[in-house]
Amino acid sequence: MERTFIAIKPDGVHRGLVGTIIGRLEAKGFNLVAMKMLQVSPELAAAHYAEHQGKPFFNGLIQFITSAPVVAMVWEGPGVIASARKVIGATDPLKAEPGTIRGDFGVNLGRNLIHGSDGPESAQREIDLWFKPEERFSWDPALKPWLIES
Ligand code: RTP
Ligand code: MG
Repeated sequence: MERTFIAIKPDGVHRGLVGTIIGRLEAKGFNLVAMKMLQVSPELAAAHYAEHQGKPFFNGLIQFITSAPVVAMVWEGPGVIASARKVIGATDPLKAEPGTIRGDFGVNLGRNLIHGSDGPESAQREIDLWFKPEERFSWDPALKPWLIES
């Protein structure tokens, strides 16, 4: 079953949206298989956003993501990588559709509340970067027959 890495950024934590954001992913039908709150080190932040190294917004992005705790998670489900990106919405909250997390709760590109892996390779890389194998769990929700036709 597919897995993706999701993180509620410092603005989502400060704004009290942790429960709302997790609730949307739960209500969609995805399965939470790892979760922790942590203060991100500059090293972890730079590794996570390595693809953006050298871009004008990189330093500000690292400063922001290390400024307060984040809630890091792994979610599982059919097609979860692409689907979670749709639930999250476009990178710029002003361009994100209503009904998406960024579309409903954000107004600024640098305060877009949540991160989601953008493909299978980044999902695997980010899960390995943020979570040890023993911090991840495999479990079948009791509602699975009502979520997924066998
Ligand atoms: P994320 O990685 O955080 O889930 O966001 P994303 O895939 O939708 O967007 P990405 O292109 O990976 O950019 C990472 C984060 O950098 C900030 N950003 N600022 N000022 C700018 O032009 C700019 N572009 C991107 C955003 O906070 C974005 O989430
Ligand atoms: Mg990205």
